[in-house]
Amino acid sequence: MPLPDRNRRFLLARVPEGMPRESDFLLQEEARPACPANGVLVRSIWISVDPYLRGRISGIRTYIDPIPAGSVMESAAVGQVVESQTPNIQAGDFVTGMWGWQDYGAVDAARVRVLDPAEAPIQTALGLLGGTGMTAYFGLTELCAPKQGETVLVSGAAGAVGSAVGQIAKILGCHVVGTTGTEAKSEYIKSLGFDGALNYRTDLPYRQSLSQLCPNGIDCYFDNVGGELTDAAMQMMNFRGRVAVCGQISQYNDRSLDVGRRPFTEILVKQLRVEGFIVTRWASRFAEGRRQISVWMKEGRLRCEETVYEGLENTPKAFIGLFRGENTGKALVHV
Ligand SMILES: NC(=O)c1ccc[n+]([C@@H]2O[C@H](COP(=O)([O-])OP(=O)(O)OC[C@H]3O[C@@H](n4cnc5c(N)ncnc54)[C@H](OP(=O)(O)O)[C@@H]3O)[C@@H](O)[C@H]2O)c1
Repeated sequence: MPLPDRNRRFLLARVPEGMPRESDFLLQEEARPACPANGVLVRSIWISVDPYLRGRISGIRTYIDPIPAGSVMESAAVGQVVESQTPNIQAGDFVTGMWGWQDYGAVDAARVRVLDPAEAPIQTALGLLGGTGMTAYFGLTELCAPKQGETVLVSGAAGAVGSAVGQIAKILGCHVVGTTGTEAKSEYIKSLGFDGALNYRTDLPYRQSLSQLCPNGIDCYFDNVGGELTDAAMQMMNFRGRVAVCGQISQYNDRSLDVGRRPFTEILVKQLRVEGFIVTRWASRFAEGRRQISVWMKEGRLRCEETVYEGLENTPKAFIGLFRGENTGKALVHV
């Protein structure tokens, strides 16, 4: 079958105010791009939607420049090479890279990684074997460094990163509690082996619910969410506890000042270590992370649900769904 000669792509139409809307993104068509010299032309199969993109479309430089209005939405993707101008990659190979919300990626060979579909389903390169898995693995093992028997609390626990963090903490022999936004998600994380679950919409006050779920206090807190839940968790931390600040999704659509309980006395008297991170800090060790995670996947000790949106045209919907809690596990678009 001949290849479609048009490339559909999503541009950022405007910087969203508050919760993003589908109209903040513009679906546009152009001619299929040419294969670059020393690069590959890839047809997208899977596109990842991720909460960090909210920061990238805020018009503000964070740890990286914002995506300007009028530009293609950047994002991790997986696809099949349709043309190659580099000796190390052949047409037909499956690759992952950052070509974004579009049908085709015209990408420099150095900016893609070839996948082995016999090793794992190709879309896991966007989940457990991609940024999600690396975030969970390195954030937890390097910053929280949980010891056997310790209590680990994970917020956003039914999501892509959180569900992986909790399962890894179980593999390491910890008592693991997760927070989620629905009863179904709480049941889901328990089915993954979590010892307890807190539904942040109903299990109030948080301090009381956490005391029941974490009777020995909290040694490690892996925070994906922030806000009042985190205020409560900080009060429950044990002496020399560790907090890995991975995400603050409850704040991403809110430009107002986030005023909460100040945690510094807790940090001082309990001698806590609280550290934020961006996963690329460990980029030079990603091969090691992928090796360990694939062993655990093959042993059946680490798995990840996928919430799949069909069709490129549904990419903004999939992205917005992250802030409405529509996804369980990794949110993906199947192009
Ligand atoms: N530091 C890094 O390098 C790095 C890398 C990757 C991801 N992250 C961060 O890790 C976190 C999880 O990312 P992910 O890709 O795994 O996404 P995800 O958890 O799969 O999806 C987002 C989830 O967040 C929850 N959520 C949305 N709005 C919320 C709110 N106001 N309060 C509480 N929970 C809310 C929803 O679940 P509920 O139904 O439970 O509300 C939703 O399903 C995000 O904060 C992200 O920014 C950081």
